[in-house]
Amino acid sequence: MLNWKELTFHYTETDYIVRAAYKNGVWEKPYATRDKYMNIHVAATGLQYGQECFEGLKAFRGIDGKVRIFRMEENARRMQRSAEGLLMTPVPVELFCEAILLALEKNMDFVPPYETGATLYFRPVLVATTPEISVGPGKDCEFIVISTPIGPYFPNGFKGTPFIVNRHIDRSAPQGTGQWKVGGNYAASFRASEVAHAMGYECMFTDAKTHKYIDECTASNFIGIKKCRMVQNGVELGRIGQNGKDSVELGRIGQNGKDSVELGRIGQNGVELYLEDETTLHNSTQYYTTAELSFYEYLTPRSSAILPSITNDSLMTLAREMGMKVSRRKIRVEELAEMSEAAACGTACVISPITKVFDPENDVTYHFGEPGPVLTKLFHALQDIQYGRVEDKHGWCKIIE
Ligand code: PLP
Ligand code: COI
Repeated sequence: MLNWKELTFHYTETDYIVRAAYKNGVWEKPYATRDKYMNIHVAATGLQYGQECFEGLKAFRGIDGKVRIFRMEENARRMQRSAEGLLMTPVPVELFCEAILLALEKNMDFVPPYETGATLYFRPVLVATTPEISVGPGKDCEFIVISTPIGPYFPNGFKGTPFIVNRHIDRSAPQGTGQWKVGGNYAASFRASEVAHAMGYECMFTDAKTHKYIDECTASNFIGIKKCRMVQNGVELGRIGQNGKDSVELGRIGQNGKDSVELGRIGQNGVELYLEDETTLHNSTQYYTTAELSFYEYLTPRSSAILPSITNDSLMTLAREMGMKVSRRKIRVEELAEMSEAAACGTACVISPITKVFDPENDVTYHFGEPGPVLTKLFHALQDIQYGRVEDKHGWCKIIE
């Protein structure tokens, strides 16, 4: 029996893989096999020209013993976009889901028990198999689902990981393939990761055109948390206190528009105001109606070169529901100085807090330290859904009894 708690993010053999070939315009029905080797033509365009894409998704053993697969259709749709990007034959969504469910059924004994921190990871792969030497796409392909139980992606897991800003090796071009999950992007990133690892960091990619903006954190999206400043008519009304947790400084607009005094604090039930007299602040509904998290902004980069993460999309939904402002826009590296928390996010790591970011060109280190309260709350909110501890009101999980 496997030692579930010792699992890392490495391949562990399971009983079956699932396969389905596309040949002469027809998809074969997915089938399970113990044979882990592929017999493809040496001139297959997948081998010659990297015509290949893949996916990654997880099955979680829940608190109720049931298994939940997270947002499988989203992975299926993303794989279709990747396939279309490389002029491959897209796997129909129904076929993709049928193959995942078969892979689960055949490897059910490898779904780690609840509370081990491990999950069963599915790696769907699409490889073009048409033999061709002239440079061009092949249409025949093979779809495979590998299943493997895994532990944390970053060795430190939720304890946090240090990153180093990279401006010398690009994983993908702004008008290239970064938005798709194609093997070539990962091969292109190996060197950058090796350089970062040698210095004790993970790699933070910047945009390949200007190298000024944050793109991705190795193979994960970036999230930053910023304390909001409340500005009305150009006057800053208040901001969260330095400790970010329990005190909120609500500025009173004095005669000179500058006076500031601590007027309230964030309690269990949102913002409690100390304010008794009638001041301008009473007109600002922001202070009365917003809950604790509405003082924070969830920031994530907008870039044509990053993979649209399904985890990030889920976290953005949860953040909005918690009352946070969610912004997807270009983020300059220097803006890290204004963030109270930062993390990498993806299926593999869920949320991995960033302890610090070192920018060697400018000799600056942005410190974040211990995982912060907002990311911790988001992490638990997502995991509660994935492990069936709360109602899945978005219908994100496919439950297998
Ligand atoms: N960015 C890259 C480059 C990835 O490979 C992944 C992993 O799939 C992600 C981000 C995170 O995406 P998701 O949350 O869908 O796993
Ligand atoms: C993720 O699933 O979050 C990833 O980073 C994918 C990677 C292991 C290829």
